[in-house]
Amino acid sequence: MSGNSGSNQMWGGRFAAGPSAIMREINASIPFDKALWRQDIAASKAHVAMLGQQGIVSHEDAALIAQGLDTVAGEYEAHGVPEDWDLEDIHMTTENRLAELIGPAAGRLHTARSRNDQVATDFRLWVRDAMDQMDAGLLALQIALVTRAGEHAASIMPGFTHLQTAQPVTLGHHLMAYYEMIARDRSRFADARARMNRSPLGAAALAGTGFPIDRFHTAAALGFDGPTDNSLDSVSDRDFALDYLMAAAQCSLHLSRLAEEFIIWASQPFGFVTLPDSLSTGSSIMPQKKNPDAAELVRGHSGRIVGCLTSLMITMKGLPLAYSKDMQDDKPPVFEAASLLALSVAAMTGMVAEARFRTERMRGAAELGYATATDLADWLVRQANIPFREAHHITGSAVKLAESRGIALDQLSLEDLKAIDTRIDERVYAALSVEASVAARCSHGGTAPAEVRKRVAQAREALGLHGFALEE
Ligand code: ARG
Repeated sequence: MSGNSGSNQMWGGRFAAGPSAIMREINASIPFDKALWRQDIAASKAHVAMLGQQGIVSHEDAALIAQGLDTVAGEYEAHGVPEDWDLEDIHMTTENRLAELIGPAAGRLHTARSRNDQVATDFRLWVRDAMDQMDAGLLALQIALVTRAGEHAASIMPGFTHLQTAQPVTLGHHLMAYYEMIARDRSRFADARARMNRSPLGAAALAGTGFPIDRFHTAAALGFDGPTDNSLDSVSDRDFALDYLMAAAQCSLHLSRLAEEFIIWASQPFGFVTLPDSLSTGSSIMPQKKNPDAAELVRGHSGRIVGCLTSLMITMKGLPLAYSKDMQDDKPPVFEAASLLALSVAAMTGMVAEARFRTERMRGAAELGYATATDLADWLVRQANIPFREAHHITGSAVKLAESRGIALDQLSLEDLKAIDTRIDERVYAALSVEASVAARCSHGGTAPAEVRKRVAQAREALGLHGFALEE
């Protein structure tokens, strides 16, 4: 093991003195890149198997190295990865331990390879796993959303624009809006995964290698669709990490919006939802409080996740080809975003699955605020053939009158309505209920319970839930 004052054993040949304490500290990535240890072992095993197959190292040495790597992996699994700043990163930590275990043959592992293609490979593998895990988490959230949407396909609530009561909608429709957002998030992660699934291993430091390596072999062994096609790009490309962060940032914005809905709905003046105790906290001073902390933290975490994206974009901006050490800073924002997002998805899944929706409060609120005013205007257009703009104006007068009396639209008498416009007759009352209002909105993608049920059924089919009983 290299000491503080001695020169580094990996490149010590060119150096007379070791690094200063500051150099060792600023240089060390092991505190965070030890998270790549599984990927580092897997990539090294694929590399050495190929070196053996190609006759670049002997079969004996290749087998010895592969066995040694398994031993190192077992040690990491059992005791964690040791953090020695002199060894800088996970790559040198593993190679150093391998040498302690198997001796000089360990030195053959790094033939036809550089840490530049090594880290690019490890990190891709890590991001690919993170994408797969994220997909599973988002699927669970979608299942929770379609399940609750199916239960509440006909539960009426106020729909808002500007957070002002606009038109009645159904809770199922509202929840399915988030299903659509999460579906797009999953497709963004899937696009990114398909685009990134090429192996940079074998690009070596930047220019490729003169050894007769087989990059297709290592690519296939690591589950890649094939090797990347330009060695300079291979070691300097971090698009896959940025694609991941962009998808993560977008997804976190959706979660943040959903969290905000729950925060508003759970506040006493709304009272639309009772949050699960398991995802709420109390107050140390106010005994009556039940706070939506998990939802607030999901809303807060989205800011940090967007910050991670910004961080890596700015790290990459203006870097010349090929590898620069700045790129070592690519990992912390990706790791941070991945864990924050996984927690946020889990929290929102629990919130959606376990919230108790207070449908009677929602329905009551939908009846306030003249939410069916558009239905009156639509009725005037349909039944009295009045142009919509004029119908809008007539309806405005009806709302003003009802408001001045502190009553709902359908509580205005027929005489009052006729005084506003003689073309109104008693049939109008059938259009003014909130049930009639939502049932009428049956255009494709509209809020009518029948439309919502149709979309829920399609979604369940898409999620592979077809045939499972739908709780009504
Ligand atoms: N620790 C480095 C990183 O994470 C590994 C690559 C180092 N390459 C080099 N040429 N110094 O980026």
